[in-house]
Formats: sequence, structure tokens, C-alpha cells
Amino acid sequence: MSAPAETVTVASPADFHVHLRQGEMAEVVTKHVRHGGFSLAYVMACPLPALLLPPLGWLIAADAAAIDPGVEYLMTLYLCPELTPDEIRKAAGAGIAGVKSYPRGVTTNSEGGIESYEAYYGIFEAMEEVGMVLNLHGEVPSAAGTNTCVLNAEPAFLPHLRALHGRFPRLRIVLEHATTRAAVECVKSLGETVGCTITAHHLALTVDDWAGQAWHFCKPVAKYPDDRAALREVVSEGHPRFFLGSDSAPHPYESKAVAFPTQSCAAGVYTSPILLPLVAQMLDSFGALDRLEGFVSTHGRAFYKRPVTQGDSAVVLRRGVSKPVGIEGYGSGATHVVPFWAGKELNWEIVRE
Ligand code: DOR
Ligand code: ZN
Repeated sequence: MSAPAETVTVASPADFHVHLRQGEMAEVVTKHVRHGGFSLAYVMACPLPALLLPPLGWLIAADAAAIDPGVEYLMTLYLCPELTPDEIRKAAGAGIAGVKSYPRGVTTNSEGGIESYEAYYGIFEAMEEVGMVLNLHGEVPSAAGTNTCVLNAEPAFLPHLRALHGRFPRLRIVLEHATTRAAVECVKSLGETVGCTITAHHLALTVDDWAGQAWHFCKPVAKYPDDRAALREVVSEGHPRFFLGSDSAPHPYESKAVAFPTQSCAAGVYTSPILLPLVAQMLDSFGALDRLEGFVSTHGRAFYKRPVTQGDSAVVLRRGVSKPVGIEGYGSGATHVVPFWAGKELNWEIVRE
């Protein structure tokens, strides 16, 4: 048997699902994309109700580029009734890469989310035409009188994915942050235009880890051990339509560490500052380190038609001495954020010259 690799090189890592926020929070978290080893960030439009209109995509891009111009930001719009086929064509011309859809009420800031896809068929046609990507948060909302809950919300969504792909076979669709074996099997069974992101934290967690641990609570929630095994298997297989989208989602300390019976914990796990070493550690832990570059760079870049170019720099990781991730986090007050893995050891590090 050969000795385990001591260094790994990854060409231009790309995170195909990240939340950068706005204002003061953006000042704290945007630079963590590069700190975590990434040179491309596919930025999910944050659907705050007052900011639903399409220009939000541009606003976040402008904020982020002003804070750290060293990263390429790909922007999305938020699927909402204000969006028109004409806006789609204009947005595509201005370089907006995709449109994010949240079903109503399933996660942080999704109160303005959609209830039916059919109303958006005109938008999807325009997107297909101009080559924009549809990013789906794949959960159905819980509803009184039904058996739907966080544990089965994703499998219950899969018929919508199948139907959309059947109706718009040329439209590139990404099922975001898959958490179940059912989702992995569904995406595999569909055509080349359907991709799937997997987060670092869903490669690590199962239900037992978030039940009673607010910092591990996110949407979709981590599922059963067999579901996590399916995520690990598809990454180990090196399937080209599965790639990293961290869903790194910073929330202030106060919103996570609540102690009031009247207030629920904000959904979101923050991985950006440690992302590449964390993913390396995960893949190493289940024997898939040789799949790192495909998972964090080339697969997603191929799906999004953003191949690594000659001028792009590579990131070198080295297996190092285990170091704990600080529990103090970053920022202060309303911007105080604590990353995933805080207090635990990471044994991969980025070689910084
Ligand atoms: O846990 C989550 N947090 N899931 C999402 O889909 C949104 C995200 C956020 O923006 O905080
Ligand atoms: Zn997200």
C-alpha cells in the first residue's frame, strides 16, 4: 500500500453556492471565501423581503467585489413574480449566471418564495434560451394536516425536479445541497443538464449531530447515516454532475445561540473560512482525497462552463499538525459569527507563501 498523500494541489477552487450577505456582515464574511481557499463564489441572492427585485444580484456583486476583488463572483437572481422573461434576457447579457428558487417558507428568508412552478414556465423558457442555470432549493414546505417535515421534505420535492427536467430538458438545473440517497439517485437518473451540489457539512453530519446542537442546524437538515453514506459514495465515485456548493451561511451568534422558548434558531452553517481544508479532511476520512479537485473545481466549473484557465492559480494543501478551529469566531456584536468545526481539529492546511 502506498503512503497517504502529504500534499494535494487543486486548480482554482470554486464554491458553487455561498451566502455573502450585505452591509456589515458582508465586510466580515466576504474575505473568508479566499481565506478558505476559493477563487470563485457562486453567490446566492439573499431573498430579504424588501430586496426582492432583480438588482439585488448586482448589489451583492458590487459589495463583494469592493471588499475582495481577488475572487470571481457569479451572481444569481431570486425567482419571484417581479421577474420577467425580458429581465432574464437583460440579466444574462449583464453576466448574471442563474436564478435561485426557494419554495415558500422552507428556510431562512424564504417567506417570499414560490408556491407553484407552472407560473414561471415563461421564465424557464427564457432561461433555457439564454443558457442561465436554475438553482433549486429542493424541499417542500411543511403544511398542517400533512406528514411533511424536515426529514422527508427533500424526497417529497424530487417529483418537481423530474417534472421540470422533463418539461425543460435543455435548461441546466442544479439541485442544491442534496442530503438524501433518494436525491442522489434521482439526479443520477436524469440527463446531463441536471447537476447537484453537496455541502461540506452534509458530508460530516447526520440527524444526531443537529438534534440538540443549534450550530449544526441548517436547511435542509442532515439526514440518516445511510443518506450521508450516499453523499460520500457519489463523491468517491467522482460523478461529474456532483460538485461542492458549501451553502456557507453566516448568522450572528445571537441568532444561533438563542435560549428563549419563543425564538427558534436560525438555519445555516458557516464553513467559508475553513472550507478547502475541511473538504480535504472529509474526503480523506472516507478515502476519496483523489477526488478533491474534481469535487471542488473541475466538475462544477464544467457544468457552469467556467473552466480553469491558464492564468488561474492553484491552491496547495498540506497534511499538517492538527489544529483546533477557534471557538471565538470572527466579528463582533451583530456580525459575530462562529464557523463550523469550531473547537475541533483540522489536519489539512493551505500552504500560504
Ligand atoms: O440553512 C440554510 N441557511 N439554508 C438555506 O437554504 C439558506 C441559508 C441562509 O441563507 O442562512
Ligand atoms: Zn443556500
